[in-house]
Amino acid sequence: MLMNVDVLLGLQWGDEGKGKIVDVLAPHYDLIARFQGGPNAGHTIKFDGKQFILHTIPSGIFDPNTFNLIGNGVIIDPLILKKEITTLQHHGIDVANNLIVSRKAHLILPTHRLLDAALEYCKGTQKIGSTLKGIGPTYTDKVRRQGIRVGDICLPDFKKKYEALKKDHLQQIGLTEFDTEAHLIDGLSLQDYEQQWIEAIDILKSLQFVDSEYYINRQLKSGKKILAEGAQGALLDIDFGSYPFVTSSNTTVAGACAGLGIAPHHIGRVFGVFKAYCTRVGSGPFPTELIDETGEMIRQKGHEFGSTTGRPRRCGWLDLTALQYSIMLNGVTDLVMMKADVLDELQEIKVGVGYMQYDEQIDYVPFEMNTELLSTKYVSLYGWNQPLSASESYRPKALEDYIGFIEEKTGLAVKMVSTGPDRLETWIRKPLFEE
Ligand code: GDP
Ligand code: IMO
Ligand code: MG
Repeated sequence: MLMNVDVLLGLQWGDEGKGKIVDVLAPHYDLIARFQGGPNAGHTIKFDGKQFILHTIPSGIFDPNTFNLIGNGVIIDPLILKKEITTLQHHGIDVANNLIVSRKAHLILPTHRLLDAALEYCKGTQKIGSTLKGIGPTYTDKVRRQGIRVGDICLPDFKKKYEALKKDHLQQIGLTEFDTEAHLIDGLSLQDYEQQWIEAIDILKSLQFVDSEYYINRQLKSGKKILAEGAQGALLDIDFGSYPFVTSSNTTVAGACAGLGIAPHHIGRVFGVFKAYCTRVGSGPFPTELIDETGEMIRQKGHEFGSTTGRPRRCGWLDLTALQYSIMLNGVTDLVMMKADVLDELQEIKVGVGYMQYDEQIDYVPFEMNTELLSTKYVSLYGWNQPLSASESYRPKALEDYIGFIEEKTGLAVKMVSTGPDRLETWIRKPLFEE
């Protein structure tokens, strides 16, 4: 039996709540596979009063019966991965036996992080607001065919390759090994950080490496159920996001094919995760942004502070034009709406339904999403103005109307609605799987 790979990804600017939903869905799958991004991601999972934030490890790791794969499209910082593994092991979660890593995934070197910081600094007021995890420089090295891959660490010339690439990076920044003291990485000198990074390589080496494209296709053939877990969101996609304020990978569904080695006709369902409103962390256009007390209320009530960097997230109304764009790019089949509870106290909720550009109304995402030239057209809906709780079977009419409006505009069913960060605070609105 040849199965399909389902994909779960974010439809906005990241942090939609992908990690929580992957964790909820994991028991229905045999394998969860990350396909792009790196430790710029921060996926939060909450259950039994505990909270975990995963950066590299797929969010299926808490289900003992689900296997987890870090695919070839992912980039790995061994030190960050080591810290994730240590935290999980501390909580008794088995990582050694249910996490495997693609030999073709690229490594983030300490000097990629130095380069990231230097490049952001040079951009001045035009800075991207990068997480500074070395993402841009590592994907750049992959594309310019200079990168170092996981499989390389087992080869005899690994050290030589590492030193050559490090030298090249330092030359790019105009530094020698001996004058990097003022350039710290997470508060450490390059030498100290590098020492820890090299130690972390041993932990990475202790994991099972696979030729993941063969592995995943064999799993498909043997009838295993696979869910690919996206990082970031469609509006941060390198091709289709608000360029240049984007990340350096394809966050859309095509990224799952390239980042795992699966053919397009093996893509099955596509779960599109979105918040009942919008957030963005870092710079770049955000047409429905609220720079007022409603925006602040959403930030506080939704704890909208970055899972990876702790930065306050910018908050605003749901942008349906952008959501429809993301749905189109990804061929979304099932919608999942997150953080409905955050809007509990509002009498009125607005939804962006189009933009005005040069006095003309448009219903698409324009080439230049310049918010100085663009204003948003809104529709106003009633808020439910009462607390939502997963245990209550009663759902306020205004919430149903809000969801109904989104379903009508997108032509898709909202299958799940999340009403709190905990695994259990999840309302399965429409049947997800055939029993
Ligand atoms: P991801 O990167 O898409 O996995 O999302 P993040 O983990 O970065 O951000 C989502 C945040 O919202 C986390 O702090 C979650 O614990 C939290 N969260 C997820 N779902 C809900 C929800 O329905 N309601 C509330 N209030 N918080 C949620
Ligand atoms: P998850 O998977 C939200 C943003 C950064 C910055 C831009 C480029 O948790 O949803 P990068 O570090 O990739 O060079 O940063 O992209 N960004 C994210 N925003 N969630 C993420 O991941 C993000 N990963 C990157 O804030 O604006
Ligand atoms: Mg996140």
